[in-house]
Amino acid sequence: MEVVPESITPARPVPTPEQITELRRVAVHLAKTAAAHVRLRRNRFRGAAGALRADAVQSKSTPTDPVTVVDTETEELIRTLLADLRPGERVFGEEGGGTVGDGSEIVWVVDPIDGTVNFMYGIPAYSVSVAAMLDGRSLAGAVADVAGDQVYSAGLGAGAERIGADGTVTALRCTEVEQVSMALLATGFGYSAERRARQGRLIAEVLPRVRDIRRIGSAALDLCMVAAGLVDAHYEHGLNTWDWAAGALIAAEAGARLRLPAAGTVSKTGELVVAAAPGIADELMNLFDELGVSEPVP
Ligand code: IPD
Ligand code: CA
Repeated sequence: MEVVPESITPARPVPTPEQITELRRVAVHLAKTAAAHVRLRRNRFRGAAGALRADAVQSKSTPTDPVTVVDTETEELIRTLLADLRPGERVFGEEGGGTVGDGSEIVWVVDPIDGTVNFMYGIPAYSVSVAAMLDGRSLAGAVADVAGDQVYSAGLGAGAERIGADGTVTALRCTEVEQVSMALLATGFGYSAERRARQGRLIAEVLPRVRDIRRIGSAALDLCMVAAGLVDAHYEHGLNTWDWAAGALIAAEAGARLRLPAAGTVSKTGELVVAAAPGIADELMNLFDELGVSEPVP
């Protein structure tokens, strides 16, 4: 065995359980506060039929990839709160940009509205996602289900829970499913037509091998649903770090096995994210290898 002298081993910061608890507390506070803001502002920009007014929406990477005024202002709100609660710490957000840094300091990874298309149409499946990462690992995270008025959270090594609208706290556990053929999978699609065409071809291979597939429309919520045992697994190609930084930790702390890109990997590389209940994880990863799902879909 090669012995690496301590002096040349890269110093990897080790957070204490107390620090993780505090990061989780802040993540929950931010996600809850931001969710209340999103609820309020949705009413302000609602058109007569319930969908968001067209003048509140613009497009981003493709004409079907929306950003609303509420996405932008909610991320600004989270950044302002963080500057006050955690002065000097880095933020990496879907709308305001940033990076995961060099791994030596905490970075807050923020998706102000995950499920923006649902938010626009008024489908009640959109969320606010906030995670504290260090050296490419999520230490704490919270995902607020805005319409359901509930918050999922986890701390590394500290478990995962859901706080309901009435304050009821429920510890989260994945399902005990043992066969992929009996598994309910959640997935999603990117915004580019080319990626979608390839994702469609892969889903045609996966669908006959599982119980069924759901496309709910918020990857962060899909991952929380794996944690809560509402689906058995989630997979998607080309997610951004802010889509999974909180939800993947929540799923893992509820027992899920993960396959993740390195933090900071950009969507266009098309790498695969998987979170699976432990009883099907090996079988599902093997099936994905066999069907070519494990390959990136750029
Ligand atoms: C999207 C949602 C969706 C997933 C897309 C994401 P956004 O995030 O998570 O479920 O399939 O890949 O881009 O655009 O609503 O923040
Ligand atoms: Ca997102």
